[in-house]
Amino acid sequence: MTGKKRQTGKSIRSVFLASAVLMFGAPALGAGDIERGEALYGKCIGCHQVGEGAVNRIGPQLNGIFDRPAGTVEGYRYSNGMKRASADGLVWTREKLDAFIEDPRILVSRTRMSFRGMKDEQDRTDLLAYLQQYSDNPSDIPEATPRVVGADHDLDPAVLAIVGDPAYGEYLSGECAGCHQDSGANDGIPAITNWPVEDFVIALHAYKSGIREHPVMEMMAKRLTDDEIAALAAYYKDLE
Ligand code: HEC
Ligand code: HEC
Repeated sequence: MTGKKRQTGKSIRSVFLASAVLMFGAPALGAGDIERGEALYGKCIGCHQVGEGAVNRIGPQLNGIFDRPAGTVEGYRYSNGMKRASADGLVWTREKLDAFIEDPRILVSRTRMSFRGMKDEQDRTDLLAYLQQYSDNPSDIPEATPRVVGADHDLDPAVLAIVGDPAYGEYLSGECAGCHQDSGANDGIPAITNWPVEDFVIALHAYKSGIREHPVMEMMAKRLTDDEIAALAAYYKDLE
């Protein structure tokens, strides 16, 4: 691997960043600790296999996952949510994997992967370093640059805690009804009625931040304030 190059290539800037990390007490970030990642993979192993001879189990096998389009492991039956994410062009870049592992609902609202998420950024960095070994061309994969600022996609609990006003949500939903039918009818456009509030809020904020990509929904979500998103969630929650 390119470990040597990385070390000699260390610039003054990265030394500066490293000391900034020390100063602010964040964990030392970098390419990730593969051994630690292997231990963390214990959280996935009940459902996923990786490595030589890996086969699909509850979840698809994870060889070559980096930079692969989502939902494309042969012989595995994905949920409709994952199929749609795939059709929309979701590709498992490092950034997208990081967000998915942090909380699968960030990217695929109704994924069948029932995993609560790995909230610690260093844990995810180490786990991804471990998984990256099993991707086809590890040398082509952009290295995780040391980040002083955490890239957590998780919502501020204060935003999740906002209690929405369903009547205001009903008023706002006029903008959505042209596409999302109240009847929940699914015409290539997903039904959004009767959802848990938290999942709904997470989905809209994921469009708003752009981590979940879809031109129309990103545009819609960017116009909404936190309170408006909460109101819409409160309204759609009880809509049959
Ligand atoms: C309880 C079982 C379970 C656990 C635990 C679990 N997964 Fe999954 N995973 C799934 C299922 C099921 C799917 C398919 C999801 C779908 O179709 O919506 C999936 C899908 C995925 C995908 C997308 C694969 C593709 O081909 O698009 C990735 C990446 C992934 N899991 C990584 C992980 C990692 C990393 C962990 C551990 C941190 C983990 N999963 C933990 C069940 C699990
Ligand atoms: C022009 C059509 C259109 C409008 C208007 C629209 N949406 Fe969407 N919406 C879509 C499409 C298409 C998707 C599927 C995108 C994807 O797969 O990521 C979607 C996805 C969603 C999702 C995620 C669904 C899932 O199953 O993951 C939510 C939540 C949502 N929209 C809420 C809203 C709300 C709230 C409004 C009004 C403020 C709205 N949408 C307005 C077309 C629209």
